[in-house]
Amino acid sequence: MGKGSGYGKVILFGEHFVVHGAPGIVSAIDSTTDAEVKKAGKGINIKDGRKTAKGYSEEKRLQQIESIERMLKAMGIDPKTGLDIWIGGSLPGFSGLGASAASSVAIARAIAQELEMQIPDEKINQAAYEAEKAYAGNPSGIDNTAATYGGLLWFRKDMAGGADKVERLRVRRPIEIVIGSTGKVANTKAMVEAVAERKKKNPAKYDMIFKQAENLAIAGRKTLEAYDLKKLGELMNENHGLLQQIEVSSKELDTLVDLSRKQGAFGAKLTGGGGGGCMVALTPGKDLQGRVASAIKNAGLEVLSTKIGVEK
Ligand code: PMV
Repeated sequence: MGKGSGYGKVILFGEHFVVHGAPGIVSAIDSTTDAEVKKAGKGINIKDGRKTAKGYSEEKRLQQIESIERMLKAMGIDPKTGLDIWIGGSLPGFSGLGASAASSVAIARAIAQELEMQIPDEKINQAAYEAEKAYAGNPSGIDNTAATYGGLLWFRKDMAGGADKVERLRVRRPIEIVIGSTGKVANTKAMVEAVAERKKKNPAKYDMIFKQAENLAIAGRKTLEAYDLKKLGELMNENHGLLQQIEVSSKELDTLVDLSRKQGAFGAKLTGGGGGGCMVALTPGKDLQGRVASAIKNAGLEVLSTKIGVEK
Protein backbone atom coordinates (compact mmCIF):
# COMPACT_ATOMS: atom_id res chain seq x y z
CA MET A 1 0.00 0.00 0.00
CA GLY A 2 1.24 3.52 -0.83
CA LYS A 3 0.84 6.40 1.59
CA GLY A 4 1.10 10.17 1.27
CA SER A 5 0.14 13.47 2.89
CA GLY A 6 -0.46 17.08 1.89
CA TYR A 7 -0.72 20.19 4.06
CA GLY A 8 -3.76 22.40 4.51
CA LYS A 9 -3.17 26.13 4.23
CA VAL A 10 -4.39 29.62 4.98
CA ILE A 11 -3.81 32.51 2.62
CA LEU A 12 -2.78 35.61 4.57
CA PHE A 13 -2.62 37.90 1.55
CA GLY A 14 -3.71 37.73 -2.06
CA GLU A 15 -6.32 35.04 -2.72
CA HIS A 16 -7.97 35.60 -6.10
CA PHE A 17 -5.42 38.32 -6.91
CA VAL A 18 -2.72 35.62 -7.25
CA VAL A 19 -4.66 34.02 -10.09
CA HIS A 20 -3.94 37.15 -12.15
CA GLY A 21 -0.27 37.51 -11.26
CA ALA A 22 -0.30 39.49 -8.00
CA PRO A 23 1.89 38.09 -5.20
CA GLY A 24 0.40 36.20 -2.27
CA ILE A 25 1.47 34.95 1.15
CA VAL A 26 0.37 31.52 2.27
CA SER A 27 1.07 29.44 5.36
CA ALA A 28 0.65 25.72 5.69
CA ILE A 29 -1.18 24.66 8.84
CA ASP A 30 -0.46 21.64 10.97
CA SER A 31 -3.45 19.69 9.64
CA THR A 32 -2.93 17.34 6.72
CA THR A 33 -4.93 15.26 4.33
CA ASP A 34 -3.58 11.72 4.25
CA ALA A 35 -4.11 9.16 1.52
CA GLU A 36 -3.60 5.45 1.10
CA VAL A 37 -3.62 3.82 -2.31
CA LYS A 38 -3.70 0.18 -3.37
CA LYS A 39 -3.61 -1.26 -6.86
CA ALA A 40 -6.98 -2.85 -7.58
CA GLY A 41 -8.75 -4.78 -10.31
CA LYS A 42 -10.68 -2.09 -12.14
CA GLY A 43 -11.48 1.61 -12.06
CA ILE A 44 -10.85 4.23 -9.40
CA ASN A 45 -12.65 3.66 -6.11
CA ILE A 46 -12.52 6.49 -3.60
CA LYS A 47 -13.37 6.16 0.10
CA ASP A 48 -13.47 9.63 1.61
CA GLY A 49 -13.24 9.44 5.40
CA ARG A 50 -12.59 13.15 6.01
CA LYS A 51 -14.61 15.23 8.41
CA THR A 52 -16.31 17.74 6.12
CA ALA A 53 -18.73 20.63 6.04
CA LYS A 54 -22.24 19.38 5.24
CA GLY A 55 -22.54 18.52 1.54
CA TYR A 56 -18.81 18.98 0.81
CA SER A 57 -18.13 15.47 -0.52
CA GLU A 58 -21.26 15.38 -2.68
CA GLU A 59 -20.59 18.87 -4.09
CA LYS A 60 -16.96 18.01 -4.95
CA ARG A 61 -17.50 14.44 -6.18
CA LEU A 62 -17.33 15.04 -9.93
CA GLN A 63 -14.46 17.49 -9.56
CA GLN A 64 -12.63 14.90 -7.43
CA ILE A 65 -12.95 12.21 -10.13
CA GLU A 66 -11.82 14.65 -12.83
CA SER A 67 -8.90 15.73 -10.63
CA ILE A 68 -7.61 12.16 -10.32
CA GLU A 69 -7.91 11.59 -14.08
CA ARG A 70 -5.91 14.77 -14.67
CA MET A 71 -3.35 13.72 -12.06
CA LEU A 72 -2.79 10.27 -13.62
CA LYS A 73 -2.25 11.91 -17.00
CA ALA A 74 0.24 14.39 -15.54
CA MET A 75 2.10 11.53 -13.85
CA GLY A 76 2.20 9.51 -17.07
CA ILE A 77 0.13 6.67 -15.58
CA ASP A 78 -2.21 4.53 -17.69
CA PRO A 79 -5.72 5.92 -17.01
CA LYS A 80 -7.08 2.36 -16.87
CA THR A 81 -4.96 1.50 -13.82
CA GLY A 82 -7.31 0.21 -11.11
CA LEU A 83 -6.80 1.99 -7.79
CA ASP A 84 -8.48 1.87 -4.40
CA ILE A 85 -7.98 5.26 -2.77
CA TRP A 86 -8.70 6.14 0.85
CA ILE A 87 -8.62 9.76 2.00
CA GLY A 88 -8.56 10.90 5.63
CA GLY A 89 -6.39 12.94 7.97
CA SER A 90 -6.82 15.84 10.35
CA LEU A 91 -7.59 18.56 7.77
CA PRO A 92 -11.36 18.98 7.56
CA GLY A 93 -13.06 19.29 4.21
CA PHE A 94 -14.02 22.95 4.66
CA SER A 95 -13.82 25.29 1.69
CA GLY A 96 -10.94 27.76 1.83
CA LEU A 97 -8.31 25.59 3.53
CA GLY A 98 -6.85 24.11 0.37
CA ALA A 99 -8.43 20.75 1.10
CA SER A 100 -8.61 19.84 -2.58
CA ALA A 101 -4.92 20.61 -3.15
CA ALA A 102 -3.93 18.80 0.06
CA SER A 103 -5.84 15.72 -1.08
CA SER A 104 -4.29 15.88 -4.56
CA VAL A 105 -0.77 16.04 -3.11
CA ALA A 106 -1.56 13.21 -0.69
CA ILE A 107 -3.02 11.01 -3.43
CA ALA A 108 -0.18 11.75 -5.90
CA ARG A 109 2.39 10.79 -3.26
CA ALA A 110 0.50 7.64 -2.31
CA ILE A 111 0.09 6.57 -5.95
CA ALA A 112 3.81 7.16 -6.59
CA GLN A 113 4.70 4.98 -3.60
CA GLU A 114 2.25 2.22 -4.53
CA LEU A 115 3.48 2.12 -8.13
CA GLU A 116 7.11 2.33 -6.98
CA MET A 117 7.77 5.52 -8.92
CA GLN A 118 10.43 7.91 -7.65
CA ILE A 119 8.77 11.29 -8.05
CA PRO A 120 10.44 14.44 -6.69
CA ASP A 121 8.34 17.10 -4.92
CA GLU A 122 8.53 19.38 -7.92
CA LYS A 123 6.72 16.78 -10.04
CA ILE A 124 4.20 16.01 -7.28
CA ASN A 125 3.46 19.74 -7.15
CA GLN A 126 2.95 19.83 -10.93
CA ALA A 127 0.62 16.83 -10.85
CA ALA A 128 -1.39 18.45 -8.05
CA TYR A 129 -1.55 21.69 -10.04
CA GLU A 130 -3.05 19.79 -12.97
CA ALA A 131 -5.49 18.13 -10.56
CA GLU A 132 -6.43 21.53 -9.09
CA LYS A 133 -7.72 22.62 -12.50
CA ALA A 134 -10.70 20.34 -11.89
CA TYR A 135 -11.58 22.23 -8.69
CA ALA A 136 -10.52 25.79 -9.52
CA GLY A 137 -10.66 26.02 -13.33
CA ASN A 138 -7.71 28.36 -13.63
CA PRO A 139 -5.79 27.92 -10.38
CA SER A 140 -2.86 30.12 -9.42
CA GLY A 141 -0.87 27.21 -8.02
CA ILE A 142 -0.61 28.71 -4.54
CA ASP A 143 -2.62 25.92 -2.88
CA ASN A 144 -0.76 22.95 -4.35
CA THR A 145 2.57 24.67 -3.65
CA ALA A 146 1.69 25.10 0.05
CA ALA A 147 0.24 21.57 0.19
CA THR A 148 3.46 20.11 -1.25
CA TYR A 149 6.17 22.08 0.54
CA GLY A 150 4.54 23.33 3.76
CA GLY A 151 5.83 26.32 5.75
CA LEU A 152 5.27 30.03 5.16
CA LEU A 153 5.64 31.03 1.51
CA TRP A 154 5.71 34.02 -0.75
CA PHE A 155 4.10 33.03 -4.05
CA ARG A 156 3.87 34.71 -7.43
CA LYS A 157 2.49 32.96 -10.49
CA ASP A 158 4.52 33.30 -13.66
CA MET A 159 1.91 34.57 -16.09
CA ALA A 160 4.09 33.55 -19.08
CA GLY A 161 3.84 29.89 -18.02
CA GLY A 162 7.37 29.63 -16.63
CA ALA A 163 8.35 28.64 -13.11
CA ASP A 164 6.35 30.43 -10.40
CA LYS A 165 8.28 32.50 -7.88
CA VAL A 166 8.22 30.73 -4.53
CA GLU A 167 10.26 31.94 -1.56
CA ARG A 168 10.28 30.57 1.95
CA LEU A 169 9.59 33.25 4.57
CA ARG A 170 10.73 33.03 8.16
CA VAL A 171 9.24 34.66 11.25
CA ARG A 172 10.77 35.08 14.69
CA ARG A 173 8.16 32.91 16.39
CA PRO A 174 5.08 31.08 15.10
CA ILE A 175 1.89 33.13 15.46
CA GLU A 176 -1.43 31.85 16.79
CA ILE A 177 -4.41 32.07 14.46
CA VAL A 178 -8.03 31.03 14.59
CA ILE A 179 -9.84 29.68 11.56
CA GLY A 180 -13.61 29.87 11.64
CA SER A 181 -15.77 27.97 9.17
CA THR A 182 -19.06 29.37 7.91
CA GLY A 183 -20.11 25.75 7.32
CA LYS A 184 -20.97 26.71 3.74
CA VAL A 185 -19.41 24.78 0.88
CA ALA A 186 -18.13 27.06 -1.88
CA ASN A 187 -17.37 26.37 -5.52
CA THR A 188 -13.87 27.77 -6.04
CA LYS A 189 -14.11 27.37 -9.81
CA ALA A 190 -17.26 29.48 -9.98
CA MET A 191 -15.76 32.12 -7.66
CA VAL A 192 -12.53 32.37 -9.71
CA GLU A 193 -14.50 32.61 -12.97
CA ALA A 194 -16.82 35.29 -11.59
CA VAL A 195 -13.87 37.47 -10.51
CA ALA A 196 -12.26 37.11 -13.96
CA GLU A 197 -15.54 38.15 -15.59
CA ARG A 198 -16.03 41.21 -13.38
CA LYS A 199 -12.39 42.17 -13.93
CA LYS A 200 -12.93 42.04 -17.68
CA LYS A 201 -16.07 44.17 -17.46
CA ASN A 202 -14.58 46.83 -15.14
CA PRO A 203 -10.89 46.99 -16.02
CA ALA A 204 -10.19 50.43 -14.55
CA LYS A 205 -11.78 49.64 -11.17
CA TYR A 206 -10.28 46.17 -10.96
CA ASP A 207 -6.79 47.24 -12.05
CA MET A 208 -6.77 49.72 -9.18
CA ILE A 209 -7.90 47.12 -6.65
CA PHE A 210 -5.38 44.59 -7.96
CA LYS A 211 -2.56 47.13 -7.63
CA GLN A 212 -3.63 47.75 -4.02
CA ALA A 213 -3.64 43.99 -3.39
CA GLU A 214 -0.09 43.75 -4.73
CA ASN A 215 1.06 46.59 -2.46
CA LEU A 216 -0.65 44.94 0.51
CA ALA A 217 1.15 41.63 -0.05
CA ILE A 218 4.49 43.45 -0.31
CA ALA A 219 3.77 45.41 2.89
CA GLY A 220 2.50 42.20 4.55
CA ARG A 221 5.78 40.45 3.83
CA LYS A 222 7.83 43.28 5.33
CA THR A 223 5.58 43.40 8.38
CA LEU A 224 5.78 39.65 8.91
CA GLU A 225 9.55 39.72 8.66
CA ALA A 226 9.72 42.69 11.06
CA TYR A 227 7.27 40.81 13.34
CA ASP A 228 5.01 43.86 13.71
CA LEU A 229 1.85 41.91 14.45
CA LYS A 230 -0.44 44.91 15.08
CA LYS A 231 0.39 46.27 11.65
CA LEU A 232 0.10 42.80 10.12
CA GLY A 233 -3.46 42.55 11.46
CA GLU A 234 -4.35 45.95 10.02
CA LEU A 235 -3.06 44.90 6.61
CA MET A 236 -5.12 41.71 6.78
CA ASN A 237 -8.19 43.84 7.53
CA GLU A 238 -7.41 45.95 4.48
CA ASN A 239 -7.05 42.78 2.41
CA HIS A 240 -10.53 41.72 3.54
CA GLY A 241 -11.83 45.10 2.37
CA LEU A 242 -10.40 44.48 -1.11
CA LEU A 243 -11.95 41.01 -1.19
CA GLN A 244 -15.30 42.60 -0.32
CA GLN A 245 -14.82 45.02 -3.20
CA ILE A 246 -14.29 42.18 -5.69
CA GLU A 247 -17.45 40.58 -4.24
CA VAL A 248 -16.07 37.31 -2.92
CA SER A 249 -17.01 37.81 0.72
CA SER A 250 -20.41 36.87 2.12
CA LYS A 251 -22.68 37.86 4.99
CA GLU A 252 -21.50 34.87 7.03
CA LEU A 253 -17.82 35.63 6.42
CA ASP A 254 -18.27 39.30 7.32
CA THR A 255 -20.05 38.25 10.53
CA LEU A 256 -17.14 35.97 11.48
CA VAL A 257 -14.64 38.73 10.69
CA ASP A 258 -16.55 41.26 12.84
CA LEU A 259 -16.95 38.80 15.70
CA SER A 260 -13.21 38.03 15.74
CA ARG A 261 -12.23 41.69 15.64
CA LYS A 262 -14.65 42.49 18.48
CA GLN A 263 -12.96 39.82 20.61
CA GLY A 264 -9.61 41.54 20.05
CA ALA A 265 -8.16 39.76 17.01
CA PHE A 266 -5.36 41.89 15.55
CA GLY A 267 -6.92 41.37 12.12
CA ALA A 268 -9.35 39.08 10.32
CA LYS A 269 -10.18 38.27 6.72
CA LEU A 270 -11.75 35.60 4.61
CA THR A 271 -9.24 33.02 3.45
CA GLY A 272 -9.31 31.07 0.18
CA GLY A 273 -11.98 31.33 -2.46
CA GLY A 274 -14.66 32.98 -0.30
CA GLY A 275 -18.39 32.83 -1.02
CA GLY A 276 -18.65 30.68 2.13
CA GLY A 277 -15.75 28.63 3.40
CA CYS A 278 -13.44 30.03 6.05
CA MET A 279 -12.13 33.12 7.83
CA VAL A 280 -8.69 33.54 9.42
CA ALA A 281 -8.11 35.74 12.46
CA LEU A 282 -4.67 36.81 13.70
CA THR A 283 -4.67 36.09 17.43
CA PRO A 284 -1.16 36.18 18.92
CA GLY A 285 -0.92 34.44 22.29
CA LYS A 286 -2.90 31.56 23.74
CA ASP A 287 -5.35 33.82 25.65
CA LEU A 288 -6.48 35.85 22.69
CA GLN A 289 -6.62 32.73 20.55
CA GLY A 290 -8.80 31.01 23.14
CA ARG A 291 -11.12 34.01 23.44
CA VAL A 292 -11.72 34.32 19.70
CA ALA A 293 -12.10 30.55 19.27
CA SER A 294 -14.68 30.37 22.09
CA ALA A 295 -16.72 33.22 20.63
CA ILE A 296 -16.93 31.43 17.28
CA LYS A 297 -17.76 28.11 18.92
CA ASN A 298 -20.48 29.82 20.97
CA ALA A 299 -21.94 31.11 17.71
CA GLY A 300 -22.35 27.42 16.78
CA LEU A 301 -19.57 27.29 14.17
CA GLU A 302 -16.54 25.05 13.70
CA VAL A 303 -13.12 26.34 14.70
CA LEU A 304 -9.51 25.35 14.10
CA SER A 305 -6.91 26.90 16.43
CA THR A 306 -3.43 26.64 14.99
CA LYS A 307 -0.27 28.61 14.13
CA ILE A 308 1.34 30.13 11.08
CA GLY A 309 5.06 30.32 10.47
CA VAL A 310 5.93 26.97 12.02
CA GLU A 311 9.28 25.83 10.59
CA LYS A 312 9.02 22.67 8.56
O1 PMV B 1 -10.79 28.07 -1.50
P1 PMV B 1 -9.50 27.39 -1.75
O2 PMV B 1 -8.89 26.79 -0.55
O3 PMV B 1 -9.56 26.46 -2.92
O4 PMV B 1 -8.46 28.57 -2.22
C1 PMV B 1 -8.60 29.20 -3.47
C2 PMV B 1 -7.58 30.29 -3.66
C3 PMV B 1 -7.81 31.15 -4.91
O5 PMV B 1 -6.86 32.21 -4.90
C4 PMV B 1 -9.20 31.77 -4.92
C5 PMV B 1 -7.67 30.35 -6.20
C6 PMV B 1 -6.23 30.02 -6.58
O6 PMV B 1 -6.04 29.04 -7.32
O7 PMV B 1 -5.31 30.74 -6.18
